[in-house]
Amino acid sequence: MDAQALSLNNSIEKQNPNVLKMLSERGKNIFFPKLGILSQAAQAKGKNINATIGEAVEDDGTSMHLPEFDALINLPCNSIFPYAPSFGKPELRDTWKSVIYKKNPSLKDIVISKPIATNGLTHGISILGYLFADESDTIVLSDLYWENYNLIFENAYNAKVETFELFEKGGFNTSAFSKKLSSIKQEKVLILLNFPNNPSGYTPLKSEIDGIVSEIEKLAKAGKKVVVFIDDAYFGLVYEDNVYTESIFVKLANLSENVLAVKLDGPTKEDYVWGFRVGFITFGIKNGTPELYEALENKTGGAIRGNISNISQLSQSLLQTVYTHPNYENSKLQKFQILKSRYNILKQSFSNTKYAEYFEPLPFNSGYFMCVKLNKGLDAEQVRLQLLNQYSTGVIVLGSVIRLAFSAVPQAKIPTLMENLYNACKDLDKS
Ligand SMILES: Cc1ncc(COP(=O)(O)O)c(C=O)c1O
Repeated sequence: MDAQALSLNNSIEKQNPNVLKMLSERGKNIFFPKLGILSQAAQAKGKNINATIGEAVEDDGTSMHLPEFDALINLPCNSIFPYAPSFGKPELRDTWKSVIYKKNPSLKDIVISKPIATNGLTHGISILGYLFADESDTIVLSDLYWENYNLIFENAYNAKVETFELFEKGGFNTSAFSKKLSSIKQEKVLILLNFPNNPSGYTPLKSEIDGIVSEIEKLAKAGKKVVVFIDDAYFGLVYEDNVYTESIFVKLANLSENVLAVKLDGPTKEDYVWGFRVGFITFGIKNGTPELYEALENKTGGAIRGNISNISQLSQSLLQTVYTHPNYENSKLQKFQILKSRYNILKQSFSNTKYAEYFEPLPFNSGYFMCVKLNKGLDAEQVRLQLLNQYSTGVIVLGSVIRLAFSAVPQAKIPTLMENLYNACKDLDKS
């Protein structure tokens, strides 16, 4: 093992030996290289002649670039063309950290790591697979989940995904969650929680959240080493008052020295910048010290450097500029209101009792999506094809449920979407 990795591992072990046990073999081996090219380039910064960096520089010291870009982007040259650090642009990392506290006031003064920038949340999840998932590990997910988790945890890292039933009697199925957790035999338990959930559009209610946390606490008390990946991709898009609006990260980041909470979030869905490819990884654990977080950040930065080197400078600069714009909050609220009104119309439309003959909503209160389950033995894939071919309407089938992305449908078309779904089901009803 490289001496730099060893030194990070020693630091982690000294601060909290449980965390070292949570890392995968890859995670134990990785480090962000402080020696070599990066440190030599850092030492040469500001010198009269700097022949270290792998970028091209104009005679006046600015980034070499093609002038055609100048009319397209209204940002300083050094916010566009140079590489960004593997950890992300420092000012954006600071902004995002303060935003996490602002959006999650119950965090109060709990100490968390500095967010590390990733190439969107997908890349963040993959980096967590790299750092924490070995072949023998199991990742616990709800049975309604974003299918890309399989590609990441199973195909890339050969870990195993196991699911629990998300719903019981119209709400979060705490007993199924508990049962699944207690069936994991390994000392290390990896859990992934995604609220608002893709595909169901469900976020636990205020009345449910402590029950979920207490199941995780039970594991910790039994001596398990628990890593909870918290996929907050749709954070903030909550449309009902009885829903828990902060991230469950708040409840887990200071729960136990046996529970490492890892928050995955970013502007992709919250700020409507899907193509920018920026996300963040943030760690929180009870009694987490700056030294522990620094070691984890270094391992994360090293994994990123070894995978994609660093994230788009331009995307990060655009975000930082918009986050400090005086109209940002207001513009964001306006977009939220559009999604909320689509949600409201969709929700109201279920008061039309005729729909229940063919389909019923699964619980939903947040996010971009909702799901319906079909009645009368209707086949979801056949309904999807009927919608496509006869009603010019596209939906997603996931097993036996149909997912409707109300985020992508204008409010005026939502009643037609519902009617089309009803009619497609009626066409196929053989009873
Ligand atoms: C639950 C969930 N997590 C993560 C992502 C991916 O986010 P990103 O585009 O930032 O990689 C998605 C995208 O659909 C998602 O639904």
